[in-house]
Amino acid sequence: MGMGLFMMAYVFPEDFLWGTATSSYQVEGAFDEDGRGLSVWDVYSKKPGAVLNNENGDKACDHYHLYREDVKLMRDIGVNAYRFSLSWPRILPDGEGQVNQKGIDFYSRLIDELLNAGITPFITLFHWDFPQALQDKYGGWKNKEVPKIFADYSALAVKHFSDRVKNWITMNEIMCFTILAHKRNLWGKKGPIKAPAIIESDQVVQQTVHNALLGHGLAVQSMRANSSSVKAGIVENLNVVWPIYDDPLHVEAGIKGFRDMNEQILYPLMTGKYCARFLEKLGADAPVFTEDEMKVISTPMDFLGYNIYSGIAARASDNKEGYHFVPYPTSMYRATMNWAVVPKGIYYTLKYTKEEFGNIPVYITENGMAAQDVETKEGEVLDLDRLEYIRTHLEMASRAIHDGYDNLKGYFLWSLLDNFEWELGYGTRFGIVRTNYSNMKRTLKLSAQYYHSVIKANRVL
Ligand code: BGC
Repeated sequence: MGMGLFMMAYVFPEDFLWGTATSSYQVEGAFDEDGRGLSVWDVYSKKPGAVLNNENGDKACDHYHLYREDVKLMRDIGVNAYRFSLSWPRILPDGEGQVNQKGIDFYSRLIDELLNAGITPFITLFHWDFPQALQDKYGGWKNKEVPKIFADYSALAVKHFSDRVKNWITMNEIMCFTILAHKRNLWGKKGPIKAPAIIESDQVVQQTVHNALLGHGLAVQSMRANSSSVKAGIVENLNVVWPIYDDPLHVEAGIKGFRDMNEQILYPLMTGKYCARFLEKLGADAPVFTEDEMKVISTPMDFLGYNIYSGIAARASDNKEGYHFVPYPTSMYRATMNWAVVPKGIYYTLKYTKEEFGNIPVYITENGMAAQDVETKEGEVLDLDRLEYIRTHLEMASRAIHDGYDNLKGYFLWSLLDNFEWELGYGTRFGIVRTNYSNMKRTLKLSAQYYHSVIKANRVL
């Protein structure tokens, strides 16, 4: 292949969106300012031992006060899109009822700042900071009132911001605030991951997933009823499945694994059905649902958002499933959180999505790496590991586009800043910008400089 062709292969479409992503509880801080109500994370993170070193998001990156500086950082990096979430209890301190105007004003200022910088906002309505008041009153997502309340909150947000914001994400990663939030010990000794532990029976846990799906569908409908310009989608941490190599047998095994591993959330969203295999597997623990609810859940979306960090490797097999998953050796290349680094996951996610669901636009709404991030004497972070992570993932995204799996419209790096990494607190760093938590100083890491150059060239470098 000549040099010209080689370079072409890594070029992204002209209108490709290059973004970064954050979420409210992880960056905002100001947990008790200007009328904000409490979220389940405010309460949970203060339970001794819940978060590593007993850290919490009270101050986080102080983005609530430093948002102008953070938008400027984004402008310096050159991004043209930003995905952030609204803190539900900042807007509705009790989750419903009385609106907190100061909360609305904050997001309004942030949106204006972004637009003035030429950055397209993508709003996530719910990224896990569920209002504590609703948890206390209704017991959270197990109650079918909550999806309706979520739809009302979504409509309210759209009424305030859809004059300036077109792209709306209902929820982030249903699995995390349902199953992972409610089942202690699911992950062995480590306890709940990324979500407050609220222990419920297996049936109730399954019901929370269904109710969240329903909340998503109702929110899509209520947003559209309140604004004609809304583009609505969801962010799903799908189970990424990739074949061990590009042999047709393994590729076929991969799609079978992809279907099975995503039968609880992605397929119901896209097809309006729980498959027989899934319902049989759950038996008496299956969620209670109606056909009408399934219609709501599968209300057609304008886009799908995928958070992609790692994946599972599939290999053809003559067992009844037609595949099995190959475990990763301990010496597999891994990010700091022990997640195997498998860039091909992006390629196959785009391929299988197009083959299964057609031309729905896709955004990678998160991709990034927790890295060691040692600071040099000069105060630099030379995070070549993260840089390579980004490069290899972008290469696979671009290969997919060039092979005709071209639904990908944008890429949001997780994360703009080092921030509060849920149960791991502040020690686990995902930012392309370093946050110094003692003085809140932000410093661009090597990966941010790399991302800047990639965006400028609009191709993988
Ligand atoms: C979440 C983020 C989180 C990231 C890294 C995703 O599951 O949406 O909030 O920080 O992964 O763990």
